[in-house]
Amino acid sequence: MAFEDFLHEIGQFLKKEQIILDRDNLFHYSYDATERHSLPQAAVLPENTEQVSRVLRCCSRHNVAITPQGGRTGLSGGAVPVTGGIVLAFSRMNRILEIDEANMFAVVEPGVISNDLQKALNERALFFPPDPSSTVDSTLGGNVAENAGYTRAVKYGVTRDYVRGIEAVLPSGDIITLGGKTLKNVAGYDLISLITGSEGTLAVITKITLRILTRPNVRRTIVTYLDDLVSAANLIVALFRSGVMPCAVELMDTIAINTVADHLNIPLNRDAAGMVLIEMDGHNEDSVNNEAREIYSLCRNSPGTFDVHLAVDDAEADRFWLSRREVLPSLKALGKDHLEADVAVPRYKLPFLVRFVRGLEHSGALQIATYGHAGDGNLHVTILYRRRNFAELDEAYRILEKIYLETIAMGGSLTGEHGVGLTVMDYLSMQLTGETLPLMKRVKDAFDPKGLLNPGKIFKEPDPTKKEKVPV
Ligand code: LAC
Ligand code: ZN
Repeated sequence: MAFEDFLHEIGQFLKKEQIILDRDNLFHYSYDATERHSLPQAAVLPENTEQVSRVLRCCSRHNVAITPQGGRTGLSGGAVPVTGGIVLAFSRMNRILEIDEANMFAVVEPGVISNDLQKALNERALFFPPDPSSTVDSTLGGNVAENAGYTRAVKYGVTRDYVRGIEAVLPSGDIITLGGKTLKNVAGYDLISLITGSEGTLAVITKITLRILTRPNVRRTIVTYLDDLVSAANLIVALFRSGVMPCAVELMDTIAINTVADHLNIPLNRDAAGMVLIEMDGHNEDSVNNEAREIYSLCRNSPGTFDVHLAVDDAEADRFWLSRREVLPSLKALGKDHLEADVAVPRYKLPFLVRFVRGLEHSGALQIATYGHAGDGNLHVTILYRRRNFAELDEAYRILEKIYLETIAMGGSLTGEHGVGLTVMDYLSMQLTGETLPLMKRVKDAFDPKGLLNPGKIFKEPDPTKKEKVPV
């Protein structure tokens, strides 16, 4: 049997403990942060690039599907091995290879936990801005594969803006080295940007060179409560005309506020319809204080505001940011199913999108939590429902589709942060029309002619029997 032959071959150069075959252990490699799971036939834990290359050569020879996996925190199913085959997990490639302070770069293996890099940099008063909510579990390889966003993206940009070098292995087993420690590089097509955010469908990332910055030592956090969500969205639009550049502008609606307040036992203003969290950072105390004052008065004078609070110290600011970080885990703890529209719209459309979602909630029976990176125009609109109640299931998908249609009409994107994976796949052609999607498929085929790398993601299966509603 082909798979037995494959196992025999990789057993020639991998240790026994690098190949996981028993069902109980395999379960850990079967899921991510969506509610989707699928058992792989084996999980393979390479220790270096050479081993990745040899494993991929064997996969190619025996037509074995490969699903690369990081911390399994993805929210679009990208790391779920839906067609079986092997999971390639990077827990043994988790070294920070270099922190180069002269050039301001870090070189890492893909299995480094995001927060481990943050801690190592923090000790040297450095930082790597992309720091997703999942930082204690997610890996840098996964963050690059998904082009992860996070709260500070509004000022510092997303993961892609920091990736300057990639070593990766093609499904054929060939190793490619792209870029390095230069800040500028226009030699040929920008394959670094293409592989970043390709959701593990083009190449397996084995080494990453990331731009790093000096840590800003001063920060001020302002929390503003508003009595309606459209006013909150209007405030955010106005904020960016003020000339001050906050490093984070986040929104939580009343469901998010109350769910987090219950879950963490944190005192938040439960009466508010919306809460806007704003952070300023920098290296100069006076200028950050001046900016904070300016934003504070802008918030106070904004229509719909009824409470503005400047965090008294970093500990209080951290509590507010913890409440923001914990929205999704708190919503999950409610025990309901949820469908998430991770939509992004031009920022000035934000109030209209928020109004549209409120309208859907008021006219239906389901709760819809809205929170996210409003400064980026990126909201996580989360529909709470019960999958086993067919009326609610249908209603949830109807709402999702309406939000997607409205987003497209606003010139937005169906996913701003979490990726296509399995969850957006069925809707992608709403956004990528004409030749765009076929062109992307041809790019995929050029990297992976046999279709073995992370199959079943991004591109919709032509077989309609495989279509399935995917809760996230
Ligand atoms: C967040 C994750 C869900 O913004 O993207 O908390
Ligand atoms: Zn997010």
